[in-house]
Amino acid sequence: MNYENILSSSQNGLATITINRPTKLNALNKATIQELHDAFEEANDDKAIKVIIITGSGEKAFVAGADISEFADFDVAQGGKLAKKGQELLFDFVENLSTPVIAAVNGFALGGGLELAMACHFRLSSANAKMGLPEVSLGVIPGYGGTQRLPQLVGKGRAMEMVMTAGMIDAETAKEYGLVNHVTTQEELLPLAEKIASKIMRNSSVAIKGAIKSINANFEDGVDGYKTEIKQFGKCFGTDDFKEGTSAFLEKRKADFPGN
Ligand code: COA
Repeated sequence: MNYENILSSSQNGLATITINRPTKLNALNKATIQELHDAFEEANDDKAIKVIIITGSGEKAFVAGADISEFADFDVAQGGKLAKKGQELLFDFVENLSTPVIAAVNGFALGGGLELAMACHFRLSSANAKMGLPEVSLGVIPGYGGTQRLPQLVGKGRAMEMVMTAGMIDAETAKEYGLVNHVTTQEELLPLAEKIASKIMRNSSVAIKGAIKSINANFEDGVDGYKTEIKQFGKCFGTDDFKEGTSAFLEKRKADFPGN
């Protein structure tokens, strides 16, 4: 597919999606959100793709937020619709993909940018990255899931402080908070993401799908995550990957998972 605001490529089971509006610090306008949805959907539907990496183009920003120029004159109804549609199309969509999604945060991840990184399954960042939810400095609150996912990742008190101050934290602080798993240089960021992706790819993609569902269930209202885990655990026993994984172990060889 041809995109205007993003770049999408795939190789050896890995899809890389790059938000490509560097002159606007990769701010998420409506068109970019739609294109990201399409690219994520395409990668997730492709059985050959085992891991997706998302990053930003240029050396300055992952994403500097939702595109402020697009919503500055919105009314109450339009504001609510903006958040609802964005959450459905991109943020909840990414969180619930069955293919693992790694955010490689290569610079500013602010507002919708940090919300996008937080919707991914986990995050790495370059040492120059700065992260924050500055929405209250604009008279609005985070609307793409930030008030929910930030406390899940860093705890309520830290989330409250970050949101209320609208301040930015640096990469090392983000690591200390548990917001990113690893910090490296800008040059090493994608190689590190690819190295982790290759470790993931050695494992059963169907089992990983069940694990993502089960972990996400821990954070869903009205859902008993333990029950989800029992169901997903049981399902594994009917898969070819399970047969291959257990046989390979018993036969003392490396598993070659068929992925079903
Ligand atoms: N929406 C729309 N445009 C944005 C943007 C956003 N969230 N963030 C950056 N841009 C644009 C700027 O308007 C500027 O465009 P221009 O060159 O046409 O004027 C361009 O990207 C470069 O940004 P600039 O502000 O000049 O870079 P900087 O290095 O001085 O500052 C930031 C970098 C990230 C501190 C600053 O851009 C910023 O505060 N952005 C908004 C962050 C934010 O509040 N996000 C939450 C939105 S809900």
